[in-house]
This record gives sequence, structure tokens and C-alpha cells, in this order.
Amino acid sequence: MGSPEQQEAAGAGQEAILYVNGKRHLLPPGAGHVSLLSYLRGDLGLTGAKLGCGEGGCGACTVLVSSADPATGALHHRSINACLCPLYAVEGMHVITVEGIGNTRDGLHPVQERLAKAHGSQCGFCTPGFVMSMVALLRSKAPEAPTEEEIEENLAGNLCRCTGYRPILDAFKAFAKVDAAAYTEEAIAASKAGNGSSQAAADGGGGSSAAAGNGTAPAANGSAGGGCCGTNGHSNGGSSKPQRVCPSTGRPCDCSVAGELDAASGTVTSASKHKEAAYGPLMHTRPAVEPIFPPELRRRQPAELALPGPRCAWYRPLTLERLLALKAEHPDARLVVGNTEVGIEIKFKGQRYPVLIGVTHVPELNAIEVDDQGVHFGSSVTLSRLMDTCKQLSARLPAHQTSTLRAVAEQLRWFAGPPIRNGAALGGNVCTASPISDLNPLWMAAGAQFTVAGQGTGQRTVAARDFFLGYRKVDLALHEVLVKVFVPFTRRHEYVKEFKQAHRRDDDIAIVNAGMRFRLEQVAGGEWQIAEAAIAYGGVAPLTIMAHKTMAALAGRPIDAATLEAALQAVQEDVQIAANAPGGMVEFRRSLAASFLFKGLLWSSQQLETDAPAYASPFPDSYRSAVQPYERPPSHGLQYYSAVPGEEIVGQPVRHMAADQQVCGSAQYVDDIKLPAGALHCALVLSTRPHARILRIDTAAAAAMPGVHGVYTAKDIPGGNDIGPVIHDEELFATSVVTCVGHPLGIVAADTEEQARAAAAAVAVEYEDLPAVLDIVAAIAAGSYYEGWGHSITSGDVEAAFASQECECVLEGETKMGGQEHFYLEPNASIVVPGEADEMISYSSTQCPDKHQRYIARVLGIPQHKVVVRTKRLGGGFGGKETRSAFVNAAAAIPAWHLRRPARIVLDRDEDMAITGQRHAFMGRYKVGFTKEGRLLALDLNLYCNAGNSLDLSHSIMDRALMHCDCVYRFPALRAQGHVCRTNLPSHTAFRGFGGPQGMMVCEQIMERIARHVGRPAHEVKALNMYHEGDVAPFGQRLDGCQARRCWEEVLASRGFQQRLTEVQQHNAAHRWRKRGLAAVPTKFGISFTTKFLNQAGALVHIYTDGTVLVTHGGVEMGQGLHTKVAQVVAHDLGIPLQSTATDKVPNASPTAASASSDMYGAAAADACRQLKERLGPYYERLPGKSFQEVVMAAYLDRVDLSAHGFYATPDITGFGGDRPFNYLCYGAAVSEVELDALTGDWQVLRTDICMDVGKSLNPSIDIGQVEGGFVQGMGWSCIEELVWGDAQHTWVRPGQLFTRGPGTYKIPTANDIPVDFRVTLLRNAPCDRTPMVHSSKAVGEPPFFLGTSVFYALKEACYAARADAGLAGWFRLDLPATPERLRMACADQLTAPFAPPELLPKISC
Ligand SMILES: Cc1cc2nc3c(=O)[nH]c(=O)nc-3n(C[C@H](O)[C@H](O)[C@H](O)COP(=O)(O)OP(=O)(O)OC[C@H]3O[C@@H](n4cnc5c(N)ncnc54)[C@H](O)[C@@H]3O)c2cc1C
Ligand code: FES
Ligand code: FES
Repeated sequence: MGSPEQQEAAGAGQEAILYVNGKRHLLPPGAGHVSLLSYLRGDLGLTGAKLGCGEGGCGACTVLVSSADPATGALHHRSINACLCPLYAVEGMHVITVEGIGNTRDGLHPVQERLAKAHGSQCGFCTPGFVMSMVALLRSKAPEAPTEEEIEENLAGNLCRCTGYRPILDAFKAFAKVDAAAYTEEAIAASKAGNGSSQAAADGGGGSSAAAGNGTAPAANGSAGGGCCGTNGHSNGGSSKPQRVCPSTGRPCDCSVAGELDAASGTVTSASKHKEAAYGPLMHTRPAVEPIFPPELRRRQPAELALPGPRCAWYRPLTLERLLALKAEHPDARLVVGNTEVGIEIKFKGQRYPVLIGVTHVPELNAIEVDDQGVHFGSSVTLSRLMDTCKQLSARLPAHQTSTLRAVAEQLRWFAGPPIRNGAALGGNVCTASPISDLNPLWMAAGAQFTVAGQGTGQRTVAARDFFLGYRKVDLALHEVLVKVFVPFTRRHEYVKEFKQAHRRDDDIAIVNAGMRFRLEQVAGGEWQIAEAAIAYGGVAPLTIMAHKTMAALAGRPIDAATLEAALQAVQEDVQIAANAPGGMVEFRRSLAASFLFKGLLWSSQQLETDAPAYASPFPDSYRSAVQPYERPPSHGLQYYSAVPGEEIVGQPVRHMAADQQVCGSAQYVDDIKLPAGALHCALVLSTRPHARILRIDTAAAAAMPGVHGVYTAKDIPGGNDIGPVIHDEELFATSVVTCVGHPLGIVAADTEEQARAAAAAVAVEYEDLPAVLDIVAAIAAGSYYEGWGHSITSGDVEAAFASQECECVLEGETKMGGQEHFYLEPNASIVVPGEADEMISYSSTQCPDKHQRYIARVLGIPQHKVVVRTKRLGGGFGGKETRSAFVNAAAAIPAWHLRRPARIVLDRDEDMAITGQRHAFMGRYKVGFTKEGRLLALDLNLYCNAGNSLDLSHSIMDRALMHCDCVYRFPALRAQGHVCRTNLPSHTAFRGFGGPQGMMVCEQIMERIARHVGRPAHEVKALNMYHEGDVAPFGQRLDGCQARRCWEEVLASRGFQQRLTEVQQHNAAHRWRKRGLAAVPTKFGISFTTKFLNQAGALVHIYTDGTVLVTHGGVEMGQGLHTKVAQVVAHDLGIPLQSTATDKVPNASPTAASASSDMYGAAAADACRQLKERLGPYYERLPGKSFQEVVMAAYLDRVDLSAHGFYATPDITGFGGDRPFNYLCYGAAVSEVELDALTGDWQVLRTDICMDVGKSLNPSIDIGQVEGGFVQGMGWSCIEELVWGDAQHTWVRPGQLFTRGPGTYKIPTANDIPVDFRVTLLRNAPCDRTPMVHSSKAVGEPPFFLGTSVFYALKEACYAARADAGLAGWFRLDLPATPERLRMACADQLTAPFAPPELLPKISC
């Protein structure tokens, strides 16, 4: 209930209310600081919206908000991030969460149903956010349907780490607009008639061949063109089959063949979207009936709000006058519209604002007025509205007037994601004065004017270029507010252009951005010159700057190469960045400033060509590619897999068993569990130093803080403080020395999470700093290794091979690769509940419940059997929750033990990233010998990994790296030595591939270098050296059933690689600044834990008397479809439908890792089924024709045990060091084609073809999902994701601290990054003879990951093309990840030359 003050303060006797899913709620008092998400999840128990990051960067918390315009009554629907939205900001509105639109009992909403059926949900943590983004789009566009482009763009703010996005996009495109005009008879006839030529044009975009596919697939078309499914008229040519119009694009295409079975080959081609065949028709169990807009809210006039609170008072004025009075009364108050800046300041910068003023309801601030001079935008106009208005005006007004408006709309396209743009406003962006604001450079360049007002001082106008005074400092007195922004229209021959380069195109803040205005005029003699230039840069100084010298160098000069040259000289003076400047990337940032200028002038010149036909641009034609607009058609995919007969359950594309719950938001994760009575919230006390002696820990002040129940340090641990998954070299809480930033020193338990965090921060620790080793190079220098844990592999006589006559070439070199954050969407979470007699039940998000059980038992000093660990599902793991979740859980057990109360701990995203470790950064130093043809002879390799401050699993990760450093190539002699470096970073850990990708990457870098050296295409050198059946790998295992060459040939030969290579070369010859690259990468991956004893698994199968079955096994479901696959095995073996699966009763379970879980738990379950079948056999014989239930009942009445424990131990394996470390190996290959902007490092993947060996697939949909998800994650590792640590290379970051610790700074791929044309083939006729119990299937979780690096090598090829144009020949070193910085600097040219030599190696944390 609202407090009396609140009801009074709400004004006009009106209560402060909110509707959620059609239900009315009085807003709670004193909640000015509370987010909408906390309220939904905490107060209302609606846990569908998830907390993935708390900073607006992941979209897991997306909800739909509807409100009525008080003036017109019109309804507005928009998606927002509930994590950043203040609760009071949605007063008087209607919030719809995923629970409000459908559920498994009453029926799913069509969006939910489509997503579940299209396999668009793996771990499910991101799923409700995607559903709500889509529902919001449909609602806001209704009655129109969105286009495919709009659907893709709409998902820019939603991250998924599992699926690779393709199935999500496919699912949602079923709701895309149908071009009704294309359905007319005439349109179809015309389209058919012109099919050949129009399709050829479409193909031109991708420039690839129309290859024959695998004989069953529809013909493959251009990489970026074609029909909706990547299929088109080619295969239909001359056929009598009627042409079909795609329901999505409205264009004729072949998507009708998708989902069809080719009887000859037994292959199913699945194009998934629009294809009812694969997933069945929509059930329409619940048509799109979302809660209606509450009539009360329609009638209601908004009232002024004045809601007091102990932490924060919230005001909502309704007039400008009242706002100014409030601001005069509370000069330190923050104004809030989207809260996307203020919310971040409060959460991450520890700011406290006692007064917040919501300015969403002040009419003057919301007005948009157009006059004959330009447009006035009120400061509370949201970015979405600003964008829409700019687009609408650009369509309506004469083109010459709207150059600025078009630039603003285009810049906003890449500004955050839609939920942020829907909430955030123009004024917040201006007044925050961020040096990387995307809009401020445009306002400054375009000559915008800001109107500000204050009580008593009236209104004044300030030019945008004079408004910014310093770092986040503006010309605004404390009592003043920004009222509006005036944007003048442009005149004829006046051009405004926006620029932005970020790490990632979608939803990322700029590295450098710019706004440029060029006014061109014709002078006597008919020549054109630059009358005026206005150039503003962001990201190059503490504030947005005008490039005055550059502007002067341009003004009054002709448009020609000399002027350009002079301006480029001047920009070097305008843009000076100190070597140690925050943000780093100094050479790149300066080069970008020059590149943008280059583009800006070229672009204006080209605009003038259109507007003044007599004018001809003086720049070469091939330079036109410098300003080619970024275009990305909607993506599409094709999947090919072998069909199995319809009655079989194994081999069918059965969907994820929990998909329905996941799309409804009812699937429960640890933080969704309702807390038991008396539960306390915990926060860790963490070291702020990388290496230091602890002189004193003072907990007194923290313990005395409100709500705190206890502060615990090492002395309070009842059992052992020493922990570790292999050796006990970690302390749960540090005693005398801390060895990394984030090292736990203790834990606080309090009534609320906020209190616990505040108290943890108040624990005073005195340190004496010790020297810290932060990277591999420093570790080598200091000799800092985990001695005895770095193994080696030797095969053949390496010295003799190097010395041999045959060894014509020898190369030596080094390659580095950074780490990778797991970025599972669900952060680590645990609830520890004490039971009777020292029992502990832990609900944990872990891949290894066994380890949690052991850790808790150890630190509490109790036997293991007293600890039960329950793990229902994970919101992603990828290796990150194998060992590094256990110390978090064990820490929470300490207060639970002392206070005998349940203790909950959920790490914030930034905390999780900063303390739980990542994929290891690696360095390889090599010497390789080979013939002039490129035939391999010898490799001498030293691999170094940055293991961090404890051993964790680093030695096994290094072992696997060693066993994969041959990739798929035969090295007659090889010596590889692993070095596990001890550093003062948090312990690095398992991550999909477990060192394998790092080993293979070093090898591929070497292969690529050899190919350049011998002057042959890389794919030829790779094929020359590829393993054959029966070859023996350097680690001693004979490669039986080697599918490396089959996969390779499938992706190369059948997709016309050679032809495409020629087309790429042709493209590159014609485009100086926009280069394409094509590359193929193979992979081989060993399946088994290389620690032998871990290769065991148990399963329990219980049959109940009603004929239902429960399978319990030791594996954890984290999205990979393990439960579904095991259930398929059981259903097949017992001859029954799919049944339930659980994980909590099988002891001593190995981690769910190493990709082997389906093999092992499937086989263990099959063993249990075998026993049960033996017991039921006599009853089947005795009761022919009876149902399973009847047979079961008969057995039960006969007192037959209907529960069986199955067990499986992988046979004949040796572990590391023996000649069969792996049960078997998986193979695969991928070809990717990319396009790179050589001036900025921006890129996109035009097309990828993958062929993956998964044996005889147990479930093709799940396997394809793993292949796509693994590929995209591998592409992220190698091309997008960069961890920046405070180390020798990044001295602007505090030593040992992780700078990139949230989605704001650490970028994983979005839907916009996946290949435009994404094709996956599961290799046919490749059953695995080592896995009879799981129907000859192979593992799939980790093997495809490495194929993502095909994008890296394609990008490198594109760089070679750019370098060749700049006269740079030969191999160059490109470390990983290939971020825009590394790519741009690799494309060395005249623009980068003043700032860096061509061989520059950008800084890397390694
Ligand atoms: C995930 C994410 C992505 C982002 N991406 C981008 C991006 O791509 N590009 C970019 O430039 N920015 C980006 N931002 C920053 C931010 O979203 C924008 O700056 C946004 O426009 C801020 O608007 P807001 O309404 O949310 O501001 P709020 O947080 O509500 O307010 C911000 C500040 O402005 C002040 N203020 C607001 N209105 C007025 C007024 N009328 N008069 C005086 N002061 C006022 C407030 O007092 C406050 O200090 C991103 C932020 C997030 C969280
Ligand atoms: S939790 Fe809100 S965007 Fe990530
Ligand atoms: S399914 Fe998207 S994050 Fe797991």
C-alpha cells in the first residue's frame, strides 16, 4: 500500500499506481531508488524478466511498457530494460512481462510458440527478453507487420550466448511483413519472366557461385543475395514445379523445398523459417491476446508526483515552471528520463542522489516543432522518437534541407539497442557530456543551438560547439535545465555526415565518432570549393572537440587531393592523444580521425556529383568504396542433415525438453527460487590489489552497519580454508597474502543485498604491495610457472628433421591470443540452506555439483554425505561454472553455517567477470621446417598460458592445447612444450574447447604463414598436409575413422571455393577501401576427459506404476540439450515416449564438460535401460500386445525392482601420455567470406558454410544449434571479444584490474554479427563405432568452436588485399582477437603512416 504521504503527494487525490500484466498495484513507498526489475522480481515474484547485467547491455530484463498520451489518448508501446528503469518512472503505465502473454497451462503466445518450435532457446536465460522485444515490436507496429530488417534491428539490444541467433531470427521472421503486391498474378508472372536477370543482380552482392550443393540441397546462391532462405530461382530453372512466392520477402524463391526430404540421399534440407514442415504448424493455442490497456489508465490524467524516500525522493513535475522551481530548490538533483546514465552512475560509480526529478511529463521538454529554419527537439524527446522524426522529416522535406536529420537518424541506428533508445532521451545524452557521445559531434558540426532555462535567470541559447567545457562538464548552472535543441536545416550543397567506429557495430559505445559538415560552393570559373567545414570528433579527448586546424585547412580550398592532403596534415595536429591516455588504442584512434576525414570529403564530393551533374569528383573511381554505405540484408540459413524414419525417436530433430517453460519465463534458475524464510543476502569482500601482504583486516565498521548479521573472514572458517579442484593451492579467504584483484577476503551477510554490498565495501584492509606478475611475458621474465605442471609431447626426431636436406625452409615466430569471457547470461548464483544436524542443501548454478558438495563439506568440516547440491538448470556455463563457481558457493556456506540461516549469493555481472576467470590467454613461440611446396617436416613449439593465481584446471587445459597443436596436419616430427604461467590475475579456467582452440590457433597461424612463404593459397597447403585415415597423431593416437578430408572437401569442393576465390579477387581489384576475404579452416577435436578417472558416469532410471519414467543422471542441463538427448536414448531403449530427466541423485558425478556428457550419461542411462528391459522381458512375453504401463504394473505386482542404476566408464582410454587419450575425435571444416572496411576495421560475414562430423546425430536440431552457437562463440573469441587488464600494455588501467567487466565494455557477437548466409551440414554416413550405446553419435559441444576462426582468416585475407594496394607484400603478424583496431592498423596505408609503422602490433592483454 502507498503511504499516506505518498497518496497525498501524488496529487489530486490520485494514488501512485502501476499496472502489471493487467493487474493494478499501488506503488510501494520510499522506493525512489528501486528499479522496475527489482520490483517485478522481488515484490511481485515475476521472475520471467532476468537480471543478466543490470546495465542495459544484455536485454534479459526486457519488458513491454504501454502508456496513453494524455493529450491525444493514443497508446504508445515500447520495450525497455527493466534493470535501468526506475520503478517510479512507470507510474500510471502498464507493464507487460513474459508471464503476461502466455504460459504452459493456458497456452503459449505465438511468439513464444514459434521460438520454442524453432529451437531458438537453449539455456533459456535470454529467452524471455527476446520474446518481449519481439512482442513489443509487433505491438508497436500493429496493425502493420514489421519487415525482416526491422526484426533484425530490433534485436540489437538482446544478447544470446548459446544459439548463434540464427534460429531466433528464423523464428521471428515468421511474423515479418508480407509484400502483398508480390502475390498478384502479374507480379509473380513478371518475377518469373525476369528471374534470371534479377537473380543475377542479387547474386552480384555476394559474388559467389551457384554451386550444386551436396546433391540434395537447393542450389547455393550469392553470399548476400538470394531468396529468403538463401535459395532462389536457380534450382527451379526449367522445372515444371510452380514458382513459389516467399511469405517473408514477397519474392519468388525456393523456400518451399526447405524441410523436404531428398529420398535419394536421405538428407533433409532445413531452411527453418516460414517452414511449418520442420516444426509443425503454429498451434495457436492462444492467439496473440496480451492484456488490454487498462481502462483506468486511459481515463486518467497524469498527476504531479512527489514521493519521499529515505534514500531518494522522486518528483515528477508537469510544467516547466514547476521543474525550474524544483531544480532551484534542489540544485544537486538529477533529472531523469531514461536513467541510462544516472542508473549506471549509481550502480557502478557509487553515486548517491537524494533527489531525482523525472522529466518525462513536462510538455515543453517533449515538444517537437518544425519551423522554416529547422527543427526544435525538446530535451526529453526519446532517442527512438528523435530517430523516427528525423526519418519522417527526411522523407517529407526537400532533400537538401535534411542532411543533418539523415545523419542523426543514421547515427542513432547504431546507438545502443532499441530498449535503451526507447527510454533514453536527447537531453540526457547532451548534458552527460560524455566524450564519446554519439550525438554531440553532430550537434556541434551541424551548428545546433541549445536552449537552457533557470528560475530567475530566464532562458538563454548556447551554440552546441560552446556548450561542452571539459570532461563531463557543460555550460549549465546548477539551477538550470536544458529545454530544447534546435537543429538548423541544411542548405543546398551543404552536407552533414556522421561517423562512428566501435568494437562492435550493434549496441556499442564509440571508440571514435565524428560529425562533419561541408558547405560547398561554386566560384567564378565554375570550380567548386569548400566554403565552410565544421568537423567535430568524439573519443579523442576528454570532451568532444572541434578540429579547428583541419577546418581552417579546408575552408576556401578546392575539393581535390591537395586539399585532402593538407587537411590530413592538420588533423594530426588537432587530434593528439597521449600515449597513456585512458582507452588506449592511440594509433588507431588517430588513424580513425584521419580516415573519417578522408571519407567525409570523398562523400561530400560524391553527393555533389548527384546534386550538380556537371561536377565530377576528382578522386579515383576505386575510391568510391571508401564511402560505400553499410548494407546488410536479412540473414538466412540452411541446414542439411540425414533423415531417419518418422517412427524413430533417436535422430529426430526433437526440440529442447524445457523450451516451452523457457519461452514463458517459468523455467527456474537459482535466483528465481523463492527464498526460504529468514534468508540473508551475501556479498564478498574482495582484494583491490593484485599482489600484496595483508597487514590488517578491520571488519568492525562493516559489522555495525544497518542490516548486517555477520562479517566472516578466514578465522571464521570451521573446516579447511585450502581449496582447489586438483590441488589445494587456493584459500577460500586469504589469510596473509592476496594474489589477485578480486581475491576473496571474507563475506558479509545482511538483510538485503544492498546492505551486504555496502558493508563489504566498508571492510577496511591495509596492504603492503608486492611485485605483481600480470602477463605471460612478465611471467617468463620472472620465471613464474606452475612447476611440474607443464607437460610436453614429442614425436619423431625434431633436430634431425630440421637438419635434413629436405628441410628447405625454416621460419621462427611468435603469436599471441587474448582470453575470452564466458559471458553465460546467468551470473553465478547459490542459495545455501542449513538443515537439521549440520546438513546443508545448496541450490547452485554449477556444471559440477560434485565439486560444490566437496568444497562445502571441506570448508565446513563436515562429511560429504551431509551436503546435497541441487542444480535444475544453468543459464549457460561454457566451462565457466565447472570449478570457479564452487568457491562462491562455499563462501556462502560460511554465514549459513554460523547464523543457521539460508544464505543467498548472486554475483553482479561485473563482479562475476572480474573474479571468476576466463579462457586462458596463450602465446606460442615456434620454429617450423617445411619444403618449398609447403610440406611440413618439423615443428618445435613452446606454448605459454596465463593461468592466473591458482592452478585450477590449467595443466589439463595446457595438455589439451598440446594435443591439438597439430590441428589436422601431419607433422613428421614435433616437439611441443607447455608452460603454465603463474600470474596475479584471477585463476583462468575451462572454456569451451579447453585449450584445444588455442593449440589449433597457433598451428593455423603457422600454416597460413607457410602458405604465404611458399606462395601458395593457404587451402592448398592445408590440404597437402592434412591427415589421412590411419595416420598417427603426435600424441600417439591412431586416427581411425578420420573424417578431416571428407569435411574439408565437402565445404570446399561442393561450394565452389576456387570460383569464389576468383570473384573475391575481382571484387578487390575494383574496390580500394572495401576488401573481401575468403578462407577455409578445418578442425579436429578429441573427446574424453584427458584425466582418465573423470570418464565415468552414472544414471538412475525409475519406472513408476503409471508407466512414466524418471531418468536421473549426473549431467547438468545448461542449454546444450543434454536432458533431451538422454531422454531420447531412454525413450528409444524402452520403446516409450520422451520422459522427464533430472540431476540431483547420482553421486560423484564428473563435471558436465569436455563435450562427453551425452556420450557418458546417455550410455549410463542405456545401461540402466538394459537392466530394466531384462527384468521386464518375461512380462512382455507373458503379456503380448499389452502396453508399457500394463507390463510395468504386472512386474510391480510381482515385486520386480523397477529402478536401475546404470554405469558407464569410457573403455580403453589412457588419459594424457598414453596412446589413446581420446575415445574418438570429431572433425569439421568451415569456409567464411567477409567484407572489410579497410579504413575503419568494420566488417561483416557475407557467408559461412560449415560441415561438421557429429557421427550419427542423436538429435540434428540440437546438434545444429551447438554447431551454430559454437561457431559464433569462436568467431567472437577470434574477432570481436577483447579482455583488457591493467598490465604492462595497459597502464591506464589499475594494475591487475579487469577493465572490460560488463556488456558495456566487453562485446560478444550480436544477431547483427552472424553470417548473412549461414549454412550448416551434418556430415552424412559417418557413424561412430566407439559409441554404440548412444547410437553411434558423436559429441558436439566443443568441436565446432574453432570453426569460428574461419572469419579471422578471411579477415586476414582481406587485409592482405588492402596491404597489397598500399604496396605492402608478404606475410604479416595478426594477433587475436582481430578487433577493428588490429584490422585497421594491419591495413596500413597513407592514412595510418603518420601514426604507426605497418608492422605495428596493437597492445594486447595476454
Ligand atoms: C547500454 C547502453 C548503451 C549506450 N549506448 C550509447 C551509445 O551508443 N551512444 C551514446 O552516445 N550513448 C550511449 N549510452 C549512454 C546513454 O544512453 C545516453 O547518453 C542517453 O541519451 C542518456 O539519456 P537518459 O535519458 O537515459 O539520461 P539520464 O540518465 O536520465 O540523465 C543523464 C544526465 O543528464 C541530465 N539531464 C537529463 N535531462 C536534462 C535536462 N533536460 N537538463 C539538464 N540536465 C539533464 C541528468 O541530470 C543526468 O545527469 C548508452 C547507455 C547504455 C546504458
Ligand atoms: S539485465 Fe537489463 S539489460 Fe542486462
Ligand atoms: S539460450 Fe540465449 S543465452 Fe542461452
